[in-house]
Amino acid sequence: MIIHLVAGARPNFIKLAPVAKAILERGCQEPRIVHTGQHYDGPMDAVFFEELGIPAPAYHLGVGSGTHGAQTARILERYEDLLLREKPAATVVFGDVNSTVACALAAVKLGVPVVHVEAGLRSFDRTMPEEINRLLTDAVSELLFVTEPSGAQNLQREGVPCEKVRLAGNVMIDALLAELPVAVSLDMPGRMGLKPRGYGLLTLHRPSNVDAPETLAALVDLFVELSGALPLVFPMHPRTRVAVAGAALQERLESSSGLRVLEPLSYRENLGLMAQARLVLTDSGGMQEETSVLGVPCITLRDNTERPVTLEMGTSTLAGNDPRRIRKAFKKALAAPMPEPARIPFWDGRAGQRIASELAAWLAGR
Ligand code: UD1
Repeated sequence: MIIHLVAGARPNFIKLAPVAKAILERGCQEPRIVHTGQHYDGPMDAVFFEELGIPAPAYHLGVGSGTHGAQTARILERYEDLLLREKPAATVVFGDVNSTVACALAAVKLGVPVVHVEAGLRSFDRTMPEEINRLLTDAVSELLFVTEPSGAQNLQREGVPCEKVRLAGNVMIDALLAELPVAVSLDMPGRMGLKPRGYGLLTLHRPSNVDAPETLAALVDLFVELSGALPLVFPMHPRTRVAVAGAALQERLESSSGLRVLEPLSYRENLGLMAQARLVLTDSGGMQEETSVLGVPCITLRDNTERPVTLEMGTSTLAGNDPRRIRKAFKKALAAPMPEPARIPFWDGRAGQRIASELAAWLAGR
């Protein structure tokens, strides 16, 4: 029995790894990885397969970058073409990127059941492309795995029958717990001449933060200022690099020796830096979750989050992109002791196994 596991963008690879491993271990189905090619640069792609031991993709759709419509359409067309040649027992999609919604749509239209891992998350902000992707993917999914109770509540509110929903936990935390010892042993801070807890880790890529030059300029000025109080390490997403160049901010960004701009890091390098940071400044969804489990304060550069458990039980604080709010949160985090790592139910390193087992039972019952 063939199952397609679809991945296209960096966070998908991390989420797919534990699920692919658990399905392979059970040995009941044959997982075939479909890589859409949404992310394609080595540091955004191949390095994740190597470090996380993900089997090579069976299919590569090679779609590359583009506007939302063009990218989504290319994936839809190419994945449909593949489905017409090979009909799997199910298509498993992950997270909320364009590859997720495009493949879900191609599959459901051809009668292939869609399984969504990381379903039900809602920011209630429809200006975010990911929110549209989440809503549409969940609407066409047959089996929905949620990471936290809010996911199940959101789906119930949208009329998804609860028989379709399973609280499986967080597969991203499976990857984190498996890789943490190796990641820490890399001694990333030492390699950069930094002390554990003596620096902050910064990431930024959301359109709402990087696409408008004035917003990005104000953030760059703020990061330069904050790096005077605490060195900041900034692995830069390609989207942000394009935006920085477009807004001619490179020189301002390099004006502080405390702000170290790097190429995108591998999974282990990033995890090693995150685990030993004094704090994290980020607009990433996954890092809000990872910092909660690691017990590192996370200043989330967004006005909302689809991951409320990281605010209630974890270490995340919403600070938007207003420099005053971010500065206040930064000072507060620096003045406080390090928080305790959060123990969030089902974020225990076994979500992939639960998903593989539920999936097998569900397929058997169809
Ligand atoms: C995508 C996801 C976002 C996720 C992020 C993680 C959508 C709508 N967005 O955003 O939810 O948080 O991935 O990284 O699916 N680029 C390269 N090399 C690459 C990939 C991208 O240079 O390998 C550059 C291109 O200029 C491209 C831009 O980054 O146009 C944006 O890439 P895209 O995949 O459209 O969205 P992300 O911003 O990466």
